[in-house]
Amino acid sequence: MRPLVRKSYRIAVVGATGAVGAELLAVLERRGFPVANLRLLASARSVGKKITFRGDDVRVEELRENSFGEMDIAFFSAGGDISRKFVPLARDAGAVVIDNSSVFRMDPEVPLVMPEINGADVADHRGIIANPNCTTAVTLMALYPLHLAFGVRRIFASSYQAVSGTGARAIAELKQQVAAAHLNSPAIAEVYPHPIAFNVLPQVDSFLPDGYTKEEMKMQHEGRRIMHLPGFLASVTCVRVPVYRAHSVAVSAEFARPVSVEEARDVLAKAPGLDLLDEPARNIYPMPLQAAGKDNCQVGRVRLDCAMQNGLAFWVSGDQLLKGAALNAVQIAELL
Ligand code: A2P
Repeated sequence: MRPLVRKSYRIAVVGATGAVGAELLAVLERRGFPVANLRLLASARSVGKKITFRGDDVRVEELRENSFGEMDIAFFSAGGDISRKFVPLARDAGAVVIDNSSVFRMDPEVPLVMPEINGADVADHRGIIANPNCTTAVTLMALYPLHLAFGVRRIFASSYQAVSGTGARAIAELKQQVAAAHLNSPAIAEVYPHPIAFNVLPQVDSFLPDGYTKEEMKMQHEGRRIMHLPGFLASVTCVRVPVYRAHSVAVSAEFARPVSVEEARDVLAKAPGLDLLDEPARNIYPMPLQAAGKDNCQVGRVRLDCAMQNGLAFWVSGDQLLKGAALNAVQIAELL
């Protein structure tokens, strides 16, 4: 690990005009991250746009191979193809890269980090640190404290994923389709293969030969790395829902040791970055509308799973643009 010891840092943001990029800048600002110099990078389409950061207008520049001279930290949120090509260039130019794509997450030389769980892994970096998949991140915020208490073996889960996870174009697509329905005009489906308004799509990401999607398998693959649990098993169905912001996940988890709801609630109430909202008699439980815009993820509906031994069922919601992307990335930078 190259030590990063400065009073303030030269920061590049790749994908600064995107859904995650905008959140990243807001999180840097809100958490008072010591930024000495900010370089905002996007495609040629965005050159000349101005984005306000701490009251100053910063011009967006075109991402180029030589964009990373004299940068300390480069955040990447512009998709896998851009990361594959430009992350190594940024690292070679001397920046530590925090990458939000899935390209490097399974690379054994690249730590995959959630600060609440395996923050110490940051010390092993060789210039690139990977940020986890958003659905995995939201789930692990609740699952990991339960694992520490009871020892998780496997989970069965279904996700309810917001369109902002797909990016700015998907947000616009849902808006268009909602408006079109009110006007009785046709819904235009370009980003997703089917209309997303008033619908749910049992497909997030592309299908693998075994019938799961890539997104679904990230829970097991990334969960193993982040929790340091090579035997962790996860059978997941990922579903896109017509929600603008915040993912939710219904989880049934099987543990090695006996569980109790009281103990589980106690553990979850004390977990960092997590709020327990679990008063079913008063209709209190996590929901995306209430999780949106919040740093903390929310967990509730905690109950004994009636179909397995040592099983707990729970429901977790979290702002995937924050904990699943921008917030986690900035927390990694803070660890650096
Ligand atoms: P741009 O706005 O110029 O297209 P989102 O996930 O919300 O769709 O955002 C994707 C981000 O990735 C945007 O900032 C977008 O910039 C950026 N991006 C997409 N393609 C490229 C590219 N070829 N070079 C640099 N940035 C890109």
